Amino acid sequence: MKILFINGPNLNMLGLREPDLYGRRDYAALEEFCRLSCEDLSKKYSVEIECEIFQSNSEGALVSRIQEAYFDHTDGIVINPAAYTHTSVAILDALKAVSIPAVEVHLTDIDSREEFRRTSYAGLACEKRFSGFGFEGYRMAAEYLVERLSKGK
Ligand code: DQA
Repeated sequence: MKILFINGPNLNMLGLREPDLYGRRDYAALEEFCRLSCEDLSKKYSVEIECEIFQSNSEGALVSRIQEAYFDHTDGIVINPAAYTHTSVAILDALKAVSIPAVEVHLTDIDSREEFRRTSYAGLACEKRFSGFGFEGYRMAAEYLVERLSKGK
């Protein structure tokens, strides 16, 4: 099965960016964490997992990558749209258009921050949200998808 991790703007600045909120580990460490999580889940659920990771600071590139996921037969999407979570109807529509099971992730707990972060457009097209668990949220989201997708296979 193919799992695609999508990360939005400024997540490439992890480590440098507001470390008290987002931690001191950098984006390369997050990528490594996602790949290792997929390896572990592959063993745990006895299923082959192809893990792809994409990051962009541009809304259009994120929309295009979600559309591509339909054509490259991605089975599940883990998405942290970052700031576009709270503004982007285009990302919501792209997720709806491809109808691929998706899970929303945020490093921080968006419900306990500023009021404007409580709105999530992308979340309306996601089956679940893991928010406030740091890197671990990506593993939880991937596990939710692997468990859901391996049922009946
Ligand atoms: C974030 C939360 C968003 O509100 C913020 O704009 C981000 C990161 C998170 O992972 O906690 O860039 O998605």
